[in-house]
Amino acid sequence: MGNGIAHVFAQNNYNVSLIDISIETLEKALATIGKNLDRQVAKEKISESDKSNTLNNITTFTSVSEGVKSADLVVEAATENQELKLKIFKEMDENSPSNCILASNTSSISITKIASVTKRADKVIGMHFMNPVPVMKLVEVIRGYSTSDETTNLIMEMSKGLSKVPVEVNDYPGFIANRILMPMINEAIYSLYEGVAGVYEIDTVMKLGMAHPMGPLQLADFIGLDVCLSILNVLQAGFGNPKYAPCPLLVNMVEAGVKGAKSGEGFYSYGHGTKDLIVAERFKA
Ligand code: CAA
Repeated sequence: MGNGIAHVFAQNNYNVSLIDISIETLEKALATIGKNLDRQVAKEKISESDKSNTLNNITTFTSVSEGVKSADLVVEAATENQELKLKIFKEMDENSPSNCILASNTSSISITKIASVTKRADKVIGMHFMNPVPVMKLVEVIRGYSTSDETTNLIMEMSKGLSKVPVEVNDYPGFIANRILMPMINEAIYSLYEGVAGVYEIDTVMKLGMAHPMGPLQLADFIGLDVCLSILNVLQAGFGNPKYAPCPLLVNMVEAGVKGAKSGEGFYSYGHGTKDLIVAERFKA
């Protein structure tokens, strides 16, 4: 999601330092941002000069300490892994200016826990964007236990300035978005696992019956099945309630390396060169 977040800030005239582990990943991110800007140009939402200004606002770095050196705000969007995020926040805390706000785009990891490895817990906050970031309006703004009013108000106002709609929530497992979304996705997977209905049928019920833009199984494929599993594990551990236990089918799929769209297969198969939704061979009746 990092490229989408960089895209939105750069498009709103912020100077963005885009940090990732390798030059190859950064080149891929810039190509994705370029492609998504082209989509906005084609839809006449922005001009060619808006596109080039946006790209000119982005500088890339492969080192956290260099990238955050003069930042006012950092939005971390690394893999959903607590140890990794704690390591990154410690490094950002040590290398960024003392008044810099440190935000995380985490979809479920505790902001309070993340803040605990820094010396500025009042300036640590969740800024949870939704995919695809340039299109989706919501920013879930998560207040950790020690996040100050000043930090929260600043991030709420800044999000509005990005033409997003920020919603303030408190720091409990899954916040609001994933506390509600993931049990629905898990229930859809259980319905498939128990043979209540097929992939296409489950998604069609939710699309046409509840006016969801895409069914829960397709959405799980887009989010990443590994990400869904890790969020469910956080919910189950955080609440100690078996109702969040991930469906064994989801666990098996992730263990088999089947992670959804990014791996070429999930409940649907991808990479066949068309936008048609094709149910994965495994789940065909
Ligand atoms: N993740 C990644 N990409 C997505 C996506 C998603 N959730 N939803 C849509 N896209 C991509 C599509 O694949 C498509 O890309 P390509 O053209 O390269 O194939 C592009 O966005 C446009 O999609 P559509 O053709 O569907 O265009 P649209 O204008 O008709 O609708 C949309 C766009 C409003 C985003 C609609 O697709 C939609 O509502 N999608 C679901 C969005 C959603 O639920 N997002 C939240 C996911 S949860 C999350 O992000 C946070 C988390 O913590 C798990």
